[in-house]
Amino acid sequence: EMLEKGGYEHFMLKEIYEQPRSINDCMRGRIYPLEGKIQLGGIKEYAEKFKNAHRIIIVACGTSWHAGLVGEYLIEEYARIPVEVEYASEFRYRNPIISENDIVIAISQSGETADTMAAIEMAKSKGATIFGICNVVGASIPRLSDAGMYTHAGPEIGVASTKAFTAQVTALTLMAFYMAEVKGTLPKTKLIALLSELERIPSLVEKALESDKLILEIAEKFKDSRNALFLGRGSGFPVALEGALKLKEISYIHAEGYPAAEMKHGPIALIDEEMPVIVIATKNSSYEKVISNIQEVKARKGIVVAIVTEGDTDVVKMADYSIEIPASDEAFLPLLATIPLQLLSYHIAVLRGCNVDQPRNLAKSVTVE
Ligand code: AGP
Repeated sequence: EMLEKGGYEHFMLKEIYEQPRSINDCMRGRIYPLEGKIQLGGIKEYAEKFKNAHRIIIVACGTSWHAGLVGEYLIEEYARIPVEVEYASEFRYRNPIISENDIVIAISQSGETADTMAAIEMAKSKGATIFGICNVVGASIPRLSDAGMYTHAGPEIGVASTKAFTAQVTALTLMAFYMAEVKGTLPKTKLIALLSELERIPSLVEKALESDKLILEIAEKFKDSRNALFLGRGSGFPVALEGALKLKEISYIHAEGYPAAEMKHGPIALIDEEMPVIVIATKNSSYEKVISNIQEVKARKGIVVAIVTEGDTDVVKMADYSIEIPASDEAFLPLLATIPLQLLSYHIAVLRGCNVDQPRNLAKSVTVE
């Protein structure tokens, strides 16, 4: 087993460290930065469908649903198609309004999640076109879909999803850029710049992993916490949700993810001198707003752990602990900001003596409803 773990103590840690490669594997052969082109073999026959799509509905569960929320930001921003993101388990039991001009994207690491499969079948019966984003080749969801993309992250053994999530986000990024290309909603020069930057992401993820030691020190401070709050805005919000889910799953610490501005509508009551508030505070369009949210936490003597852009000084001064990630275009923020949160959960769980690869009560894929 040690051999299978490639020298790492746990599969989860191995999979966290595999991300520069798995993100690269997801992009391989699909992006051509010099020409500003995206080639998605599985869906290329559907270019017209994307051009005429009235709406995209993303269905998924758990971490895959968080990837879907990132997809919503990217597709609406770049391809200007309205997107709804639905929990498969809710969607399947509603009587949703679906037309033939709707596209359903189902996201699943395993490709065997019962609720996601049922949601696909229901949408199909109402005439929607189904695209699957899946990691396991030949699984049930790709077989049920009209077309789709494999994420090529490689087998994920840890029950808590890490590299599969960043590969799903990469796949959705490619899809968003592809839709933007076919719809002509992005100037060619901008697309070229984004694709060249995307090509650098694996090496930037590598850099983000270098904070591992510092993150372990921070984990030591919070290993006995009973609660944690994760805040983010824009595409940082799904990152906060995913950070909270990871911590809950493997350390059994109660954690919540919130849009930073929603804090004052409730969770602010939880702030005290003990609970860590982890804030995605990178330099992007919501930077100034997030700074005011950090001030709200500090004014109530809360403890702030900030994920910041390298070289930041303003947030670093305000926060109790800061973890840097490399600067990049806002489009790729989720891919970079997720890394320190995975490591933080991992170290906290290990320090608490938890079984990180097989947390209690959880299964790798939920094949029953
Ligand atoms: C991830 O850490 C979870 N264990 C879980 O939320 C998972 O993402 C969910 O069950 C969906 O699985 P799928 O991607 O295989 O469909």
